Amino acid sequence: MSVFISHALNTGFRDEDVYITGLCHDIGFLIYGESFRYPEFIQNLEYHVSSEGVLSFDIFYTVDRFDRNCQHVLISSKILEYMGIVPAYCSRAILYHHSTTFPAHEDEKTVLMANIIRLADHISGTIRSARKLEEAVEQVRISVEKEDFPPALLKTGKDLVNDPIIFSSVFNEESGVDKFMESMLVDVKTFTRTAQIISLMLDYRSVYTRKHSLGVAKLSENLARELLTETDAVLMYLSGIMHDFGKIRTPLHILHKPGALSPGEMFVMKLHVVDAMKLLTSPRLTFPLRMAVMHHERLDGSGYPKGLKAKDIPFQARILQVADVYTALAEDRPYRKSLEPTRALKIVENMVRANQLDGIIYEKLREFVKNGYHLTGYEDLIEMITQKYTYDGV
Ligand SMILES: [Fe+2]
Ligand SMILES: [Fe+2]
Ligand SMILES: [Fe+2]
Repeated sequence: MSVFISHALNTGFRDEDVYITGLCHDIGFLIYGESFRYPEFIQNLEYHVSSEGVLSFDIFYTVDRFDRNCQHVLISSKILEYMGIVPAYCSRAILYHHSTTFPAHEDEKTVLMANIIRLADHISGTIRSARKLEEAVEQVRISVEKEDFPPALLKTGKDLVNDPIIFSSVFNEESGVDKFMESMLVDVKTFTRTAQIISLMLDYRSVYTRKHSLGVAKLSENLARELLTETDAVLMYLSGIMHDFGKIRTPLHILHKPGALSPGEMFVMKLHVVDAMKLLTSPRLTFPLRMAVMHHERLDGSGYPKGLKAKDIPFQARILQVADVYTALAEDRPYRKSLEPTRALKIVENMVRANQLDGIIYEKLREFVKNGYHLTGYEDLIEMITQKYTYDGV
């Protein structure tokens, strides 16, 4: 919707910038909820089912009750700035997506973008959380007048709920991701930062995996640097942060089950590898995709999803397998506490003896552990993106 409003106003903004700003404007809300106040976040998440059977969340209500200090605008803005995929005025605009006044030093583009996001947020929130569409449209027609938008934005907002052709094209359109995919060529550094944010959200979804993706990424990177080349190290870091992307769909009650998984639950758990494959296919991330698909395979053919054997598993994928097993053992699980490094190493060694994991990589890991290798998570990044801004007026 933000892209539609931007077009209607002839802003001249790049569509992909508007799209990404709209997509990420509340991203901090999730990280805030997941990293700090998860129980309260879940408790306050009001949802209902519309007459058409569509499940929706009442975000306004949730933001009001949960995020009293508007932390989510600060964190969202900081995250977008960190990723570096849009110009600075877009990340700054997010700071004001719930504001009707702006500090004097903010430039026109920031203010305009902030108003676009606020209008789109207001209209789509009201429409999508409505039990009855006709009531929601009426509600928007009345409420948009009271929201203190500049005249041009107010007109665009009214057009949206008065013109059935415009309404239908905005609300029934498929997700715009593919439309912008071709034009989104980013460098490795920018891409890595974006992937880090996604894996941070994944890791913080569960208290048991808060160090997982980054731990696996750094260990894979370090092992590859010692055993292969610098290029492999960079690629293995990326593969590590993305290897469990598919777990974003694994239900928490399965991740948090305090005992052995039933065969059905195990099946659902195994789907994370296939889901990772789906997620990484369309952006054509060929190498991380191959790695992610193989991270639960084992050299003796006992792994999943394909039961590949040693000859079909490249050395890089073997690195990811060792790093994944060791990191998981060093983390708390609902059914056991984290294992001491030597104890975790012993289990990896047993898996090497059973011809499941690679012996050369194990030897390097053993050397790392002997020298006091320490697994770390996203603490630094969390600290950075949750720091208070010093901008005036916020
Ligand atoms: Fe918001
Ligand atoms: Fe996994
Ligand atoms: Fe994993």
